[in-house]
Amino acid sequence: MRARAVLGAVLAVTCAGAIFSFLLRPGGLLWGETEESQVRGIVEASRLLVDKSIYAVMRRDHPRWGASNTALARWLPPAYEDGISEPRGWNPHFLYRGFPLPPVREVTRRIIHASNEAVTGDDRYSDLLTAWGQYIDHDVAFTPQSAGPPAPGAGADCQLTCEPRSPCFPIQLPANAAGPACLPFHRSTAACGTGTQGALFGNLSAANPRQQMNGLTSFLDASTVYGSSAASERRLRNWTSAEGLLRVNVRYRDAGRAFLPFAPPSAPPACAPQPGAPGARAPCFLAGDGRASEVPALAALHTLWLREHNRLASALKALNAHWSADTAYQEARKVVGALHQIITLRDYVPRILGPEAFGRHVGPYRGYDPSVDPTVSNVFSTAAFRFGHATIHPLVRRLDARFQEHPGSRLPLRDAFFRPWRLLEEGGVDPVMRGLLARAAKLQVQDQLLNEELTERLFVLSDAGTLDLASINLQRGRDHGLPGYNEWRQFCGLSRLETWADLGAATANGSMADRILALYGHPDNIDVWLGGLVESFLPGARTGPLFACLVGKQMKALRDGDRPTPGSDGDAASEEEGSLSAALELPCDSSIRLEEGPSEGPAGFWWEHHGVFTEAQRRELGRHSLSRVICDNTGLTHVPRDAFRVGQWPQDFESCDRIPGMDLRAWREAPPPDDACGFPDNVENGGFLLCNESGRRLLVFSCRHGFQLQGPEQLTCTRRGWDSQPPVCRDINECEDGVDPPCHASARCKNTKGGFRCECHDPHVPGEDGRTCVGCSPTLSPRCRPWREREKDLPGWAVGNPGTCALPRTLLRGLQSRYVICKNKAITASLPVTIFTLKSPRAAADET
Ligand code: HEM
Repeated sequence: MRARAVLGAVLAVTCAGAIFSFLLRPGGLLWGETEESQVRGIVEASRLLVDKSIYAVMRRDHPRWGASNTALARWLPPAYEDGISEPRGWNPHFLYRGFPLPPVREVTRRIIHASNEAVTGDDRYSDLLTAWGQYIDHDVAFTPQSAGPPAPGAGADCQLTCEPRSPCFPIQLPANAAGPACLPFHRSTAACGTGTQGALFGNLSAANPRQQMNGLTSFLDASTVYGSSAASERRLRNWTSAEGLLRVNVRYRDAGRAFLPFAPPSAPPACAPQPGAPGARAPCFLAGDGRASEVPALAALHTLWLREHNRLASALKALNAHWSADTAYQEARKVVGALHQIITLRDYVPRILGPEAFGRHVGPYRGYDPSVDPTVSNVFSTAAFRFGHATIHPLVRRLDARFQEHPGSRLPLRDAFFRPWRLLEEGGVDPVMRGLLARAAKLQVQDQLLNEELTERLFVLSDAGTLDLASINLQRGRDHGLPGYNEWRQFCGLSRLETWADLGAATANGSMADRILALYGHPDNIDVWLGGLVESFLPGARTGPLFACLVGKQMKALRDGDRPTPGSDGDAASEEEGSLSAALELPCDSSIRLEEGPSEGPAGFWWEHHGVFTEAQRRELGRHSLSRVICDNTGLTHVPRDAFRVGQWPQDFESCDRIPGMDLRAWREAPPPDDACGFPDNVENGGFLLCNESGRRLLVFSCRHGFQLQGPEQLTCTRRGWDSQPPVCRDINECEDGVDPPCHASARCKNTKGGFRCECHDPHVPGEDGRTCVGCSPTLSPRCRPWREREKDLPGWAVGNPGTCALPRTLLRGLQSRYVICKNKAITASLPVTIFTLKSPRAAADET
C-alpha cells in the first residue's frame, strides 16, 4: 500500500513535464477559437510562464526591474549628510536651513504619539482596509536590514551602542529620561557597491550614493502566498499533492480548515510561545512572506489565501481531471495573483486615494507599457505607504458567531505581536475576521496618529526590547536619504510650503503647523513621512495630496509595468532567456538575513493583459471579491458585500449565498472536436496523469492511500479512443491482513473507506498508538469515557478543532484538572466545570 502511495507521488513529479506537450504545435495551438480552446492556450501560456520564467528574466531590456533583491527605485536623488551615505541627522550639529534636525523620538512625543484611548473610528471603512494595506505592502516591499550581532570587525552591535556607527543609527532618547539613552536601530542594508561600499569597487562618489534593496519581487503577484524566490516557493508547496496544493499545518486545524504550516524550528526568527509552554521561542508561521505572524489580522489574511489557493487548485483539478498537479497549482496561483491585483486596484487603492486622485494618478488600465519601471520606489515603501501606520487600531477585536465581544476577546497589540498561538489556540481565523469586518478602522486623525501600542510597545523579532514605530519610520527615512517633504511636494507638482501659513493651510490645523515648525524650524526640513501624514485628506480619500500622488504613481507603475505573458502581444522581449547574474545586485553585508540569493528575475503578469486569461475568465474574476474569498474559506456565513465597508451586524451583512463569485467552469478544458479519446472523468479515490511517450498519449492511473487499482494501470490513446476502460479504485480491507494486522489483539478492527479503526470495549480506550486498547486509570475523571466529538461551542468561542483536544488555554487556567479522551488520543486538560458542557452521548445518558 505504501509503495502505491509513493508511486503516485513519483508519477506526479516525473509525468508533470510531459502533460500538454501533445497539444502544442509549432507556431500555434491545436484548436480553434472557442472559449474552451482559449482556456487551453492560456494554460499553456501559464506553463510557459512557470517553466521558463516565473523566476527568470522576462525583460531582456531591463532585467532588474521588479526583481527581488535589487535596489529600490529612486524617484529623486537621495539626500545624505555627506552626499554619499550618512543619513540626515547623523551629525547632530549639522544645520539645515539654520536648524538642527529634531531627534525623531522628540517628533514622536510632541506630534505623533497618542494614548490608546485616543481613537476615532472610521465611519466608512472596516479594519480590514488597514489589514489589507499591510498585507499588500508585504507583497511588494521588504527592505532588509543588517540584523543581529555583527561578525567580528564587521561593525558595531546595534543592541549595545548609542553612537551612530555603521551599521547602527540609534534613536536618541531625551537626556533627562530614565532608562537607556537610545533605542537600537539597524540601518537598512546597502545594495552592493553603493555608498561607502563604492570604495571597494573604486567608485566612491556622490554619483554612486547608498541605495537600499527590496527583498521581494515588486509586482503584485501574491508573493505573500508563494514567496519571492523559487527556493521559498519550494518550501511552501505540497509536493505529494496530486492537486497542486500548498503545505498546511499538520498539527493544528481550524474547525476543519487549514492553518499555515510552521516555519522549520531551525529557521530564525522564532515567535513568542504560549505562556507556560516549554521553550523561550515558538515557531512562527511559514508563508510567502516572513512577517506573516506579526499580528493576528495579518496571519489571518495569509491563512485565508493559503486556503483559497488550495480550494481553487482542488476545484480546477476536479474540473480538469487530466491536469497534472503542476498545472492545477500554476493555474490556481495565477487566479490568486489576479485576485490580489483586483482587490488592490479595484477595491483598495481608490478608497485610499479618493476618486479624483485615483483618476489622476492611476486611471484605467490601458495595457502593458514597456517604458514603465515597476520597481517599488524608496519613498513609497519608506514613507508614503507607511501612512497605514496611522490607521492601526491599538486593539485586536475578536468577535463570536453573534459578532459579540467577550471578556478576553480584545487584545492590546502588545499581547498579539508575533504570537501565532493566539490564532491556533484562541478560536482560529473566524473571530479575527469578524472583528476585521465589523469593527471600524482607526481613522488617521492629526492629533491621534500612532497609539501607545506602536510608539511604546512595538515588538519586532530582531530586537529584545520594545520599540517605537513612529520613530523608526522617521529614522528609516533619514537612513535611506529620503529628501525632505517639500522636495516631494515639488516632485508631485504640488506647491512648496514656505511659511507657517502655507503649512497651516496644507494641514488645515494651525496648532499642528506651530508644533511642527517649533521642532523643524523650516518646512523644507520636515521628514517626508510626517509631512505626508499631517496633510488634510483629499475628498473621499484617506490620504492627503502628497501621499495620494506617491501611492498612486507606485500602484500605476506596478500595474502598467507588469510584464506580459511571454509570447502574448506587448511582450517586448523574446521568449529566449536573458542573462541575469551580471545585472543583479547582491547585498555585501554578510549578516543580512536574506532567505537566499537574489531571485533570478521578476515574476508577475497583470490580470487584465491580453493573453493572461480568456475573456470569460476575466469576466468571472471581475465578479469575485474579498467578501467571497472570506465566505469560501472561513466559517463565516454572512459578510458585508463590500469587505472594506464597515458593517453593522446583522443589518449590513448578507448571506454568503448571495455574494457573487466566479464560476470556475470558465477554466474547464474541452477535448478537441476531432479527438476520439477526450479526457476521462475523474477516478474516485484516485487520479491519473496524462503523459506523452514517443508521440503516444498515455494515462497512468494510481489510487489514494488505502485503495487499490482494479483494472489496467495505463491506457493508451488510439484512433478509436482509449484502448481500454479506465480502472477503478477499490477500498482495501486492512482488517483482513492476517500477516500484519493493523490493530493489536486487544482491539477490534473495523474497516473504513480508505483506512481502518481500532475499537475498544468500555471501559477500555485506544492508547497513544491508536491500535492498542488501554484501561481507564482510576485516578482520572470519574467519567472516563471516549470523547469522539466536541458537541458544543465554548461560550464566546468558535469551536477550534473538532475531534482534537486543543482548547483555549486562557479559559482553562487554574481550574480543575480532568482527564479527557479525545479522538483516540488521551490528554490531560484543565477544564472549568461550568463550561464543561462537552459530553459524550454516553456520559450524558449516564447522568440523566
Ligand atoms: C499592526 C500593524 C502593523 C505593524 C505592527 C507594522 C510594523 C511595521 C514594522 C516594524 C516595519 C519595519 C519598520 C522599519 O524597520 O523600518 C514596518 C514597515 C512597513 N510597514 Fe508596517 N506595520 C503594520 C501595518 C502596516 C500597514 C497597515 C501598512 C500600510 C497600509 C504598513 C506599511 C508598511 C510599509 C510600506 C513598510 C516598509 C516595508 C519595507 O520596505 O520593509 N504597515 N511595519
